[in-house]
Amino acid sequence: MRQGLKPGTSGDGTTAILGAGALGRLWAACLPSETAGFVPKSGAVPSAPVLTYQFTDHLGHGHVIQRRWLTDLSDLSLLLVTTKAGNTLSALEEVVDQLPEACPIVLFQNGLGSQQAVANHWPQRPVLAASTTEAANRPGPDVVIHAARGCTWVGPLNEAARTTVDPVIQQLAASGLTIQAEDQILERLWHKLVVNAGINPFTALLDCPNGDILTAPLFLDHIDQLCLELAALMSAEGLPPQTPEHLRASIEQVARATTANTSSMRSDVRNGRATEIDYINGHVAARSQALGLNAPVNQMLTERVKQLAPYPDQKHGASLHG
Ligand code: PAF
Repeated sequence: MRQGLKPGTSGDGTTAILGAGALGRLWAACLPSETAGFVPKSGAVPSAPVLTYQFTDHLGHGHVIQRRWLTDLSDLSLLLVTTKAGNTLSALEEVVDQLPEACPIVLFQNGLGSQQAVANHWPQRPVLAASTTEAANRPGPDVVIHAARGCTWVGPLNEAARTTVDPVIQQLAASGLTIQAEDQILERLWHKLVVNAGINPFTALLDCPNGDILTAPLFLDHIDQLCLELAALMSAEGLPPQTPEHLRASIEQVARATTANTSSMRSDVRNGRATEIDYINGHVAARSQALGLNAPVNQMLTERVKQLAPYPDQKHGASLHG
């Protein structure tokens, strides 16, 4: 563990977190305090040198966490990006020039589309994606709860990232969270996207916890067609073939396992935040169209969820650290 870092500076072995929502704060709380800090929003001068919040670990023990705001990123050895999907490219654009060229960038976004946008934008930088089943929520601005332990898979999104997977995993292992290398990270992201596409829009439209969708006519009337559309797109994208029945079973299994949970999309709608629908069902609809496939249910769900969120101005930036 490094000692004697000046406040606000990074250093070899430092992990910076861009996006101080529930997931970013979970990683910051679990990584050693000397080696983890937050990236302030561009142009914003933090009112204190550290970000302070209450953290309840997975055993229910409470901690007060203090992590530095890192104003100098020139020696950074790892950047975790935990912004909402819609904010990711613009948030990175604001800070990327301050990072060393070789600093791996690990993207934690839900859905698909934002990761590819980053990897295409900076092909020479090591860009990785992470898919996690760690459950964290933020019931208040400065309160984070690690609701359940899970696993985080990390894999390269471009050629430049291939050799960085092991060092990234080593650095993240200091958190004590479970981390595994994943060569087929796109498959994992797809698996999560399927579950999100089959749960999130229904919970948002019905304003109900995850388990309640299973008996709702809106879900029962559309889930088979939704799974047909997902299976067709997955094959067209070159992923291992999946039957629509198998996809429906995985969606229903997660909805049952998280029966009382409020999905992230329902929570976004309830709190007047932009949702990630464009990167979930919207991504499926757009990619299907680009590949000459039809995805009317994904399209319909995307449009209906967008009608629920009357705050289009918030899509870019407002919830970067929220
Ligand atoms: O997006 C979410 O909230 C979660 O990924 C899921 C799977 C819907 C469970 O709550």
